[in-house]
Amino acid sequence: MKVTKICCIGAGYVGGPTMAVIAQKCPHIQVTVVDLNAERIAAWNDADTNNIPVYEPGLAEIVAAARGKNLFFSTEVDAAIDAAEMIFISVNTPTKTYGKGKGMAADLKYIELCARQIARVSKDNKIVVEKSTLPVRTAEALKSILDHTGNGVQFQILSNPEFLAEGTAVPDLMEPDRVLIGGDPSFEGQKAIDALVAIYANWVPLEKILRTNVWSSELSKLTANAFLAQRISSINALSELCEKTGADVNEVAKAIGMDSRIGPKFLKASVGFGGSCFQKDILNLVYIAKSYGLHEVADYWEQVIIMNDHQKRRFSGKIVRTLYNTVADKKIAFLGWAFKKDTNDTRESAAIFVADDLIYEQANIAVYDPKVSEERILADLDYLDHRAIDKNKKRVHSYYDPYAACEGAHAIAVLTEWDEFRDLDWQRIFDSMQKPAFVFDGRNLLDGATLKEIGFVYEGIGS
Ligand SMILES: NC(=O)c1ccc[n+]([C@@H]2O[C@H](COP(=O)([O-])OP(=O)(O)OC[C@H]3O[C@@H](n4cnc5c(N)ncnc54)[C@H](O)[C@@H]3O)[C@@H](O)[C@H]2O)c1
Repeated sequence: MKVTKICCIGAGYVGGPTMAVIAQKCPHIQVTVVDLNAERIAAWNDADTNNIPVYEPGLAEIVAAARGKNLFFSTEVDAAIDAAEMIFISVNTPTKTYGKGKGMAADLKYIELCARQIARVSKDNKIVVEKSTLPVRTAEALKSILDHTGNGVQFQILSNPEFLAEGTAVPDLMEPDRVLIGGDPSFEGQKAIDALVAIYANWVPLEKILRTNVWSSELSKLTANAFLAQRISSINALSELCEKTGADVNEVAKAIGMDSRIGPKFLKASVGFGGSCFQKDILNLVYIAKSYGLHEVADYWEQVIIMNDHQKRRFSGKIVRTLYNTVADKKIAFLGWAFKKDTNDTRESAAIFVADDLIYEQANIAVYDPKVSEERILADLDYLDHRAIDKNKKRVHSYYDPYAACEGAHAIAVLTEWDEFRDLDWQRIFDSMQKPAFVFDGRNLLDGATLKEIGFVYEGIGS
């Protein structure tokens, strides 16, 4: 089957960038991204592409070039499904907040709604592609819903998990390490895989496109995130030991990272990982293992999350302890709120948890993040902890200028590794702060020696 029209359900951090790149690389294919969220779609259609809802370096330019030509954003979900030969499901799969598996299993209600909608609307055969990260064997449930429509339409289900990392989504999509496509071993299944391979082959070398069975593909995505997060928790576990022993975690990371069997990536000690995926996907893996009765497997992976929670708590605890065991009514400046640099995504950001702990201790928080609004910050805190009305609003303010955020502060906490923080005028900041002036560098981003020369009390992670 030669695909000429694609529909993607879900215009979020994955659906938006992925489809923009497919549209750019495949001018012969019409790509329509649909979402129930009308505000989000309006933002994707904003005349000024700097206002699109996802911030990723390079993305605004790609959207500007393709939008209105072969890239469309719409709320007309039914029409887009009907017209497309291939439908990507890119909706969110958060951790369940209710019922069985609460706090651990993936909530598949959005996925199921999509399947039912596709089943209801489709009049001709279609390929349905799982782009969302899903528990292994979800395709079975999708197939069961799609195959019981009674209207004779044939569906092929493929798993094509997305490995992009926020902040580097555009280069990750342009030059992926690999593209993974899982499909049914039948003749029809293999033909569906061929159709998706033909799309990626427009810019990805064939040897980087892997074909597997559906279950391997679904499980590989959860596994990739679990392994990446495990590296972070491993180095963070050692950061605490370094602080006790006089070893320096940066030196340890460098020494072990030069071992080619270990490699240098994902070995930076920090206040802990955030983002919408790592925690949710590991919990999902843990839940699946538990549901098969594999308790040792579940416990092994759960420890990655336990370590991460500990690291966030340890950071806020250190701030309180160092500031003479009280932060009540002290101003603490936060540099960064996003879960990592070069994204406006704040889901599960370590900053939220550190702020929550400090608000509990009645500190005042002044946030500067180049891409995150005060509205977003308050929404994140309100979601985590429904304090008495307006309590977060009284304690937390955001600033458009890092110097204003730091002025008069007792301490600065670096929560996101934005490059621009390195280039601030640190002498000017020091002069404007309460003394002694503390910097708690939750990302080991700054040059501690220089800051100490200026007069700061500098506390990195793991040294
Ligand atoms: N964010 C990442 O870095 C990343 C990377 C790889 C994979 N993933 C996976 O991709 C999936 C999507 O993640 P995201 O970060 O893009 O989520 P997101 O929340 O940013 O976007 C999901 C979108 O789907 C829309 N939606 C939900 N149900 C819908 C429906 N029935 N019809 C139409 N629209 C609907 C929502 O309104 C939302 O805009 C998740 O499964 C996630 O685990 C995410």
